[in-house]
Amino acid sequence: MTGPDTETGAPEPGTGTNRGTTTFDTLILGAGAAGMMCAAEAGRGGGRVLVVDHARAAGEKIRISGGGRCNFTNMHAEPGNFLSQNPHFAKSALSRYTQWDFLDLVGRHGIDWHEKTLGQLFCDGSAKEIIAMLRAEMDAVGADLWLETSVEGVSREGNGFRVALRRGDSRHDVSCRNLVVATGGKSIPKMGATGLGYALAEQFGLPLVPTRAALVPLTFSDATLPRLKALAGLSVDATVETAGTRFREGLLFTHRGLSGPSVLQISSYWTEGQDVVVDLSPDTDLGAHLRQLRAQAGRQAVATALASVLPKRLAQDVADRAAPRGNLADQSDAEIDRITAHAHAWCLRPAGTEGYRTAEVTLGGVDTAALSSRTMEARDVRGLYFIGEVVDVTGWLGGFNFQWAWSSGWAAGQAI
Ligand code: FDA
Repeated sequence: MTGPDTETGAPEPGTGTNRGTTTFDTLILGAGAAGMMCAAEAGRGGGRVLVVDHARAAGEKIRISGGGRCNFTNMHAEPGNFLSQNPHFAKSALSRYTQWDFLDLVGRHGIDWHEKTLGQLFCDGSAKEIIAMLRAEMDAVGADLWLETSVEGVSREGNGFRVALRRGDSRHDVSCRNLVVATGGKSIPKMGATGLGYALAEQFGLPLVPTRAALVPLTFSDATLPRLKALAGLSVDATVETAGTRFREGLLFTHRGLSGPSVLQISSYWTEGQDVVVDLSPDTDLGAHLRQLRAQAGRQAVATALASVLPKRLAQDVADRAAPRGNLADQSDAEIDRITAHAHAWCLRPAGTEGYRTAEVTLGGVDTAALSSRTMEARDVRGLYFIGEVVDVTGWLGGFNFQWAWSSGWAAGQAI
């Protein structure tokens, strides 16, 4: 581990011990996925690197990700899987540090992995292996890590920066040429998320794209919620669509509303006041199916006929919403189309989302117009970099957000 360059200064009254000023080439704020990746790459260039984090451990979100197995990338990752005001911004970093580069790193560290579904790659063992790998990469280049360290202030100092840090009772000033902001988004504040990255962007005059919770369950008003609650625990394969964007994956009914991968995905595209349209039976043409059953066994109830395709509770709910008169034999073709529309195009108006408390990511953030897409450096503030989730680049569910953290962290590390 590298030690400090200079230690000067005397204790400051009322602020505990002042450990003086330490000089590093690069200071990285945030020891998450992007920060650690950047440290390993920046250190390769020979400069002295310090990573600080206010948490007790590095990579806490990596640790809990993917149910403890970390969905660390996606085999199909490409720029189209990311949301940003500038859809072209992520292209450079994603193409220069790809999912295959990360897989190569994982392989070199002997971490076994598997594809779960849709190109999503997970550790066979534990997400902790990914954290250990990043820590080993940092150690290999002598990057320092200070945990339980908070940032008290940042100021410009010549061509570089001076950052006031606090570790327990003592204050440390760090002077650095490059300052990398890797403090993540606002999701899961309980795990250490703060708005520091956004505040620093504002301090240095970088514009922000408004933030909101994404990859998050949708909530509903009292008019709809009781119906969804009655279905809680049911999970179906469904397509969910809003404003021309559609995902097909699992949908889960919960006591609070709708969740499951298809709903988390669509939440990133949903805005207040919009409907979501759910197809509960994307593979089976229910109209054709009911017409066939009508000819064969028309004396059954509509709910019973629907239950030959949908889970029983859901079939009953579709029938309740359609409220047909009589049994299946009593339904005209037009009536069958009306009934099945309640399953193929169930239109729901969410009241909101569960918010940052449960969101996997934050949409919006540091406006990419203010950053170089090649290096992540602020165009107008030399030496200031923003990487990972704090930037207005948000991936789909499925390993894409970590890939952005690796690619953007690597791009900044390379440039440094
Ligand atoms: P990240 O949040 O990882 O790191 C930021 C670091 O900065 C943290 O260590 C934090 O403590 C520190 N920090 C914040 N404020 C600070 C301050 N004021 N002072 C000092 N330090 C500060 N993605 C994916 O691709 N696959 C997956 O399986 C999952 N799973 C998943 C599960 C859950 C529950 C969540 C919440 C999120 C995911 N994600 C995911 C998303 C993924 O975790 C996320 O996109 C990346 O961790 C972002 O990496 P960053 O390094 O940008 O931020």
